[in-house]
Amino acid sequence: MTPVDRFPTSGLEEDARARELIGSALAETLVVEAAAGTGKTTELVNRIVAVLRSGLARVDQIVAVTFTHKAAGELKVRLRQRLDEARQEAGGGERAHLENAIQHIEEASIGTIHSFCTQILRERPVEAGVDPAFEDLAEAEQRRLYFKVFRGWLERALDEPRPGLHNVLTRLAWTGTGKPADELRFAGWKLIGWRDFRGPWRRDPFDRDAEVDRLVALVTELAKGSERCERRSDELYRALAPARELVTWVARAGPRLDYDTLEALLIKLLRDLNRDKRKGRGPFGNGISREEVLKSREALLRQLASFQDQANADLAAQLQADMQDLIDAYEDRKRSTGKLDFMDLLIKARDLLRDNREVRSFLLKRFTRIFVDEFQDTDPLQIEILLLLAGSDEETKDWRQTVLAPGKLFVVGDPKQSIYRFRRADVGLYQEVRDRLLAGGARLLHLSRSFRAPAPIQECINAAFSGLMQLSLIHI
Ligand SMILES: Nc1ncnc2c1ncn2[C@@H]1O[C@H](COP(=O)(O)OP(=O)(O)OP(=O)(O)O)[C@@H](O)[C@H]1O
Ligand SMILES: [Mg+2]
Repeated sequence: MTPVDRFPTSGLEEDARARELIGSALAETLVVEAAAGTGKTTELVNRIVAVLRSGLARVDQIVAVTFTHKAAGELKVRLRQRLDEARQEAGGGERAHLENAIQHIEEASIGTIHSFCTQILRERPVEAGVDPAFEDLAEAEQRRLYFKVFRGWLERALDEPRPGLHNVLTRLAWTGTGKPADELRFAGWKLIGWRDFRGPWRRDPFDRDAEVDRLVALVTELAKGSERCERRSDELYRALAPARELVTWVARAGPRLDYDTLEALLIKLLRDLNRDKRKGRGPFGNGISREEVLKSREALLRQLASFQDQANADLAAQLQADMQDLIDAYEDRKRSTGKLDFMDLLIKARDLLRDNREVRSFLLKRFTRIFVDEFQDTDPLQIEILLLLAGSDEETKDWRQTVLAPGKLFVVGDPKQSIYRFRRADVGLYQEVRDRLLAGGARLLHLSRSFRAPAPIQECINAAFSGLMQLSLIHI
């Protein structure tokens, strides 16, 4: 069983006990979960102060990360204030420790995870294989550089036969909402954001052309059935107009229609039929009942939806392969100008920590206490970096195997407020990491007392989110 803190006490007492432990259980790894405004950041600062006061670590051995520059700035200000207050109350050796911390506070590694990575790469550029004078690209510059690379790539790519690209452009021409080139550029940007997941994506067997033929036959059957309707004003008859149009198209263009176009037309048909699902009423037509037509429409919609899922997965894998050289071109351009983007900082720091034993050993000794705020927003690369650093061994390459150094790691988070879920962090990963930490000896604490929101609002938020949390667990 995981060592979850359970006291036979009221919520308020549990809360008070949790806060007490944060300041006193300095030899334990702690995972604190709490909702907004319960004082998570305040407790993180309290814990840093407690560690510094006790002399268990010096300020330059501390790493504190959060997820925006603004939050990091606030964290520094709060820490300075609390250190000052604590110094006034302390005596003897503790006072000396606190004074030392205040004097050297600028040496603390307090910032975003990206600034922390920049710091280690600057210290060990040779081992990390980066230009010692590298510049990190701000988000806007990164985008500008990518746009330029994309324009060049698209011109080249359109001159060559690329099945995935042809397919996606056809699809976008029929079903896209914006300009195909813009949508493609966005897809490339997404791929760049996932480039740490190397290797081709899985392609399940999918006989696309045979499926297309089968579905076109089904559409033709439904369209023909609908022609037997006696009233052209019948709602069901009108709702089936997109099916009849597709059949007309296919008949007119005949063999000139390639399978990419047919695939796009079928996916467009799914969307169009779903837009108008009226059933109409009364007798339908000559020798064909309304029920029969409705049943065929439902069956077709189900099959089109399943076709769309398979076609999308197949297209994504093809496109990933066809856009690989876009990612390479982007990487080359950065390299040749000595620039690193946000993800490079994470990848290079992770590689350095994971693969270079000497550097890892040095960093493990150098940083003895790690504090993470907003832990729910950590993405897979950040988790790797933090957990490799929080371990006690120099060899494990897999963050999942890392053995926690007791007391080294302190994380606070609110799994209900992951704002980066739509980027790369997600609640499933958070839960996996939390469970691993607990299995590795960490203690889980909850804070329940809120200093911001009145209780009814909080209860409402919790109730609204609990269903979503369950759902996300099912999807993992
Ligand atoms: N023990 C406490 N007693 C009184 N006020 C507190 C206490 N802890 C925190 N506060 C106040 O509550 C407010 C919220 O605190 P804090 O920013 O630490 O919460 P948080 O949980 O980190 O919030 P968020 O979820 O927004 O990050 C602050 O104004 C802080 O000063
Ligand atoms: Mg906070």
